[in-house]
Amino acid sequence: MKRPVRLALLGCGTVGTEVVRLLHDQSADLAARIGAPLEIAGIAVRRLGRDRGDLPVDPSLFTTDALGLIKRDDVDVVIEVVGGIEPARGWLVEALRAGKSVVTANKALLAEDGAALHDAAAEGGGDLYYEASVAGAIPLLRPLRESLHGDRVTRVTGIVNGTTNFILSAMHATGAGFAEALEEATELGYAEADPTADVEGFDAAAKAAILASLAFHTRVGAADVHREGITEVTAADVASAKAMGCTIKLLCIAARGADATGREAVSVRVHPAMIPLTHPLASVGDAFNAVFVEAEAAGQLMFYGRGAGGAPTASAVLGDVVAVSRNRLAGVRSASESAYADLPVRPMGEALTRYHISLDVTDRPGVLEAVAGMFARHDVSIATVRQGPSGGGAAGRGDDADLVIVTHVAPDAALAATVRELRGLDIVRSVASVLRVEGGP
Ligand code: NDP
Ligand code: HSE
Repeated sequence: MKRPVRLALLGCGTVGTEVVRLLHDQSADLAARIGAPLEIAGIAVRRLGRDRGDLPVDPSLFTTDALGLIKRDDVDVVIEVVGGIEPARGWLVEALRAGKSVVTANKALLAEDGAALHDAAAEGGGDLYYEASVAGAIPLLRPLRESLHGDRVTRVTGIVNGTTNFILSAMHATGAGFAEALEEATELGYAEADPTADVEGFDAAAKAAILASLAFHTRVGAADVHREGITEVTAADVASAKAMGCTIKLLCIAARGADATGREAVSVRVHPAMIPLTHPLASVGDAFNAVFVEAEAAGQLMFYGRGAGGAPTASAVLGDVVAVSRNRLAGVRSASESAYADLPVRPMGEALTRYHISLDVTDRPGVLEAVAGMFARHDVSIATVRQGPSGGGAAGRGDDADLVIVTHVAPDAALAATVRELRGLDIVRSVASVLRVEGGP
């Protein structure tokens, strides 16, 4: 057996405590798989006095001096499960430049400034692994960065945020509104005290950037991702989706295709969308994650599992620790960042999608023609139109009517302009809801 691989653990919260537990409980197996034992050199935390229960670790290993721990000569691998941009960025750049290998679950940092980490890893010669940063326990980044490197990925469509999936699944199952479903998610411990990053789509957007970077060999950052959250999704939207044989999910969609000038480009977006109940992602309930990858030769691949939680996330962290430790013992590093394609990122306006639009209109002759004319002016083709009496109102001439229109695929900018102008028509009392539709025929 070779000399131990020494680990600096930064953070000992939800994920960090489970990393410590797995390191303890699986120590013999991990040593056998790596060919050397793993040893914790130190654990950096914010509060030394915090009660950490019956954690199976020597209390003298805890420190508040993260940087001092990282700089120690006897540290080979730095595991970062603190989160946030700073001081994590400074720590990891320091560790990587010094030639240490880094394992991190920090999607926010990778999406904000993955380039700084990759550049530092290239400079220092260590590994940078981050499987836990997207979709928790699900092995997804390794397949994208290794197994699919012989293929050409064309599209990645995923549910990558457990909190919002729990909320939307509850709204679909019970007819509850957003606020009620969020309350349930908070009570059950899925949503954090401040759920902004989840419900406004920031968390999913960070993951979308990481997925797109790996899938398309292009640096994509959080700022390149079009982001919309789920706070505006109403019980009426969900009911409307159900009436169409659909459900609403917060989707992350990363796709490659030609832009307006015919150049190959990528588009990356996160927003709620209706998907047919027959779509593989529709049955992903509760706080689960699933990612659907389409590649030219492989066809369609689906990855499913727990996207959050201490133990599932620690499983992905430990998988990375084993990989980077083996590399260190063998004196090699895995392939560095693959960003050679350097594709431009298309603006959201160019993304091709479909819209489901609910209008409250005046019910009189010519209304349908005026509304349809507006779509035609923007070159948006209508797929279906359904008219019924407006909610609570009486049916018939002279009263309001609900008009539900589903379009064919069109550029998002054309769809948005159509909706903008519909709002200005005097026959349109209100635009009750606008949702994108994905995954249909
Ligand atoms: P927690 O908030 O539970 O834990 C954070 C840890 O970092 C705590 O131990 C805290 O110390 C420590 N810490 C915070 N600031 C500092 C500092 N300045 N110096 C030293 N230590 C510090 O976070 P999680 O475990 O939930 O998440 C960690 C990372 O994993 C994040 O990047 C997150 O996005 C990612 N992740 C989390 C998942 C989850 O399900 N929780 C799933 C996938 C990824 P102290 O204990 O003293 O407060
Ligand atoms: N808040 C995230 C979620 C945690 O709900 O999916 C996992 O990244």
